[in-house]
Amino acid sequence: KSIVILISGRGSNMEAIVRSRIPGARIAAVISNRPQAPGIVFAREHGIDTAVVDHTAYPDREGFDAALIEAIDAHRPDLVVLAGFMRLLTAGFVRHYEGRLLNIHPSLLPAFTGLNTHRRALEAGVRVHGTTVHFVTAELDCGPIVVQAAVEVRCGDDEAALAARVLEQEHRIYPQAVRWFVDGRLSIDAHGRVSLRDAP
Ligand code: GRF
Repeated sequence: KSIVILISGRGSNMEAIVRSRIPGARIAAVISNRPQAPGIVFAREHGIDTAVVDHTAYPDREGFDAALIEAIDAHRPDLVVLAGFMRLLTAGFVRHYEGRLLNIHPSLLPAFTGLNTHRRALEAGVRVHGTTVHFVTAELDCGPIVVQAAVEVRCGDDEAALAARVLEQEHRIYPQAVRWFVDGRLSIDAHGRVSLRDAP
């Protein structure tokens, strides 16, 4: 299975997926919307094709998404993985990759969609926080949930401490979710929920 990973920055989730060497998966390309994304360097050093589609070079979202689709589809991916990709995508883009577009979000969805999730979790005083891998639908941070990991909020946690523990879980569950997809074990039922088939 051919996989394209989209990043905007650090790329530590992309790195975790690359390092997990999923049998039957080939990381065909890593594409960033930011020319300076540190993750691009890691990908290049690991012999992965890289590309930059700089959103600032396009007058509108439609133009950017069209260019992005072209860059992605050049690699004929079976799966597109958003890994810290910080751009909102148009409905047309999401539809184009329906059922083969995954995202990771740093909260236990449906709680805390959007930005600054760790800070908001601390402000809300929740005792359990975490991260979610989900299929992407047109609505922000929605879509069928594939896997979640919970993280206990500790007394004295600040944003950075909590973020670090959540990130550790992200690096575990994202490669796991990609592996399930590659093994053909994920499907979306009539209610729009994910089911995971038993391993053969
Ligand atoms: C992760 O926390 C992810 O959940 C969020 O952005 C962060 C990306 O980190 N969408 P990295 O670029 O994978 O290191």
